[in-house]
Amino acid sequence: MNVVVVGAQWGDEGKGKLIDILSQDVDITVRYQGGNNAGHTVVVKDKEYVFHLLPSAILHKGKVCVIGNGVVIDPKALIEEIEGLEKRGLKVLVKRFKISGFCHIVMPYHRILDGLRESKRKNRIGTTGRGIGPCYADKVARCGIRMVDLLNPNLLRSKLEDNLAEKNETFEKVYDTKGFSFNKIYKEYLEYGKRLAPYVENTALYLNEAIDKKKTILFEGAQGTFLDIDFGTYPFVTSSNSIVGGVCCGSGVSPTKIHKAIACVKAYTTRVGEGPFPTEFTTELKDEIRIKGNEFGATTGRPRRCGWFDSMLVRYSVIINGISELAIMKLDVLDDLDKIQICTGYKYNGKLLKTFPMDFEVLTKAVPSYETLPGWQSTTCGITRYKDLPVNARKYIKRLEELLKVGVKYISNGTKRDQIIKR
Ligand code: IMO
Ligand code: MG
Repeated sequence: MNVVVVGAQWGDEGKGKLIDILSQDVDITVRYQGGNNAGHTVVVKDKEYVFHLLPSAILHKGKVCVIGNGVVIDPKALIEEIEGLEKRGLKVLVKRFKISGFCHIVMPYHRILDGLRESKRKNRIGTTGRGIGPCYADKVARCGIRMVDLLNPNLLRSKLEDNLAEKNETFEKVYDTKGFSFNKIYKEYLEYGKRLAPYVENTALYLNEAIDKKKTILFEGAQGTFLDIDFGTYPFVTSSNSIVGGVCCGSGVSPTKIHKAIACVKAYTTRVGEGPFPTEFTTELKDEIRIKGNEFGATTGRPRRCGWFDSMLVRYSVIINGISELAIMKLDVLDDLDKIQICTGYKYNGKLLKTFPMDFEVLTKAVPSYETLPGWQSTTCGITRYKDLPVNARKYIKRLEELLKVGVKYISNGTKRDQIIKR
């Protein structure tokens, strides 16, 4: 079975933990979009690992990890991640890790442009500042530099010359800042190419051959459905297709070969960066949940905005992603609350909206309608069987299933690998 795991909210749903668990049962794990804007945390015993580019499955010896063509790679960040793991005793072997030659490369001018563009916007996006947007923009503008280009000195020279001619003019004339020198970047990126070359191959062919040999694949989404460039809360989104549909273009595996999509959702909602967030807390709960859930960005350290579970939002995710199973993460963060609210719809201009609004202004001004459920006020950590959960916790999950019209298969109740209930 080839399975996709996507985030159903605004990212940080706990995908890293779920992937770490599910990847034990498959042969290959693949990242298909995004870059080092992602931050996937995995806790094994008392050790914490945060992944930005490497698939979270890299911790399992004997499994293969792939970075598909839809991912944008900052080679310096990737090399640091590989070396960081190796320092902790985990060798990233060539037979276990493969990078698509078609991945676009995040260049130093992308990172700088990311910040400069933000500084000029009236409505800041609150990006991670990793150069992700400008890199994808160059991909679509057909001037991007790809992984294969780093392995070809002549091609890299001509592409970089073209890019710098244009970018340096923009830096000087639009942003009144200094441009980049060719030699420094050229030398630096050729070195990165040499370092990463052993891992580079046509991963689309590799994956399709593996499927022919009956190997199983897990696709690891980064970000979340509402950060998707097409279906997210545009323009407060990331620059790639994080939804299940992104798997195909981001890996070269046909939709006919994907069997199941699982959505990862937090038992509440969080968002980092700017943009509409109808169920955001306005009370002291915003600090309580942030601290209890350790809601600080794994990539930038920014405090995450927190709010109630929004079934209007997640139901839309279930539809767009064709979800057949849910994983509810961080249930334990709600353990102390005496009342829990679920958003069941939005009101705009006094009228109840039937579907998720397309108009950004409507979403921004939408007033959530809530249903209130009693809390369970006891610890759920360490519970391994569904029937042992407090009755009100089960009621909460059952209500989510009804609203979302899909079953909950996994419930995470702690940060550690074994703190999960499987139904
Ligand atoms: P994971 O994979 C949460 C957000 C940023 C910003 C917007 C655009 O850990 O769930 P970008 O740098 O991508 O151009 O920023 O997207 N963002 C994330 N938020 N989790 C992530 O990844 C995110 N990756 C990007 O905060 O609002
Ligand atoms: Mg994250």
